[in-house]
Amino acid sequence: MTDSRLLSPSPASLSEAARLLGEGKLVAFPTETVYGLGADATNDQAVAAIFAAKDRPAFNPLIVHIPDLAAAEALVEFDTRASTLAARLWPGPLTLVLKRRRDCPVSLLASAGLETLAVRIPAHELAHTLLETVGCPIAAPSANRSEEVSPTRATHVLQSLGGRIDAVLDGGPCQVGLESTVLDLSGPMATLLRPGGVPAEDIEAVTGPLAEAGKDAPPKSPGLLSRHYAPRTPLRMNARTPAEGEALLAFGPDTSADTTRNLSPDGDLTEAAANLFAVLRELDEGGFTGIAVRPIPEDGLGRAINDRLRRAAGRR
Ligand code: TXA
Ligand code: MG
Repeated sequence: MTDSRLLSPSPASLSEAARLLGEGKLVAFPTETVYGLGADATNDQAVAAIFAAKDRPAFNPLIVHIPDLAAAEALVEFDTRASTLAARLWPGPLTLVLKRRRDCPVSLLASAGLETLAVRIPAHELAHTLLETVGCPIAAPSANRSEEVSPTRATHVLQSLGGRIDAVLDGGPCQVGLESTVLDLSGPMATLLRPGGVPAEDIEAVTGPLAEAGKDAPPKSPGLLSRHYAPRTPLRMNARTPAEGEALLAFGPDTSADTTRNLSPDGDLTEAAANLFAVLRELDEGGFTGIAVRPIPEDGLGRAINDRLRRAAGRR
C-alpha cells in the first residue's frame, strides 16, 4: 500500500469508509476519546492486519466497537452490573470486558485468545453512523504505531500510520482526548484495568469499590494486563520433528507427513497470526501430549506470534 486516503466526513466518504471496512481493509476513524484503527472484528485476516500496521511486538486484546446495546449483547454476556453501567454510561468512554458468548462471531485474535472481549459504544456521531453503516463489529485499538501516543487528530494518524492503512476518516479533533476507561467485569470482582475518560467514581456508584489490576486482583499470569491465553497442552518451540503423541504445528511450505496443522503453508505471517489462536485451541482439544512448533521467523508479525508461543511454552 502506498497511500492512505484522507476522507472528509461527507455521506459519500462515510459509505466509502464502510465499504472498505466491509472488504477487510483498515480504516482509522474518530471517536470521542482518540482515533481508532478499525477493521471488521469478525474477519481474522483484517484483525491480523491491525497488528501488522501497528507494528506491535505482542498481541494485546482489542476493543470492539458497536453502535448500540443490542449489538453488544450479541457478542458478550451481560450481568446486572454491566447492564446498569451500560444504561448509565453508554455511549461514552467506558470499555467493558465481559465473557464472550458461545456464538460470538468476533475473531479470537481480537480477544488475543482470551475467553473475554472488550466492548464499547463510542459517543461520536460520525463513529456511530459508520458503525451502523458497516453493520459488523469493528475492532479498533488507538490508531498509532506501537509505543507512540494515541492520536486525537486525523493528521496524527497519517503521521504515524500513513502508507500502512487504507484510509482515515477525518472527524476533526477528539473531544475527550484520553482513552476509554477499561473495566473488567468478567469475574466477580469489578476490576479497573485502565483509568480513562470515565472517572472511577462514576463506576463505583454502581459497582461499589473497584479492585485494581495487579494490586487487589492477582493477575492470572505474570505481567499486568497479560492475562494471556495459553494452551493447557505443553508446547515447545523451534521443533524439527514431533515426539510420540505430540502434534506438529508447521509454518511455511512443508511436505512433512508429521504435520498436524500449518499456520500458513505460504509462509505468510499475517495469515499465520489470523489462524494462531483458533489453531492452538483446536490442538489443545485434540488429546495430544504436547504441541511441537516449527521455527517461525522473528520479523513483522512473527515477533508477536513468537512472543505468544514463548509465553505458552514457558508457562509451566
Ligand atoms: O478510547 C479507547 O479505548 C480507544 C478508542 C479507539 O476506542 N481504543 C484504545 O484501544 O485505546 P487500545 O487497543 O489502544 O487499548 C485497549 C486496552 C488495552 O490496554 C488492552 O489490554 C485492554 O484494552 N483490553 C482489551 N481487551 C481486553 C480483554 N479482553 N481483557 C483485558 N484487557 C483488554
Ligand atoms: Mg493504545
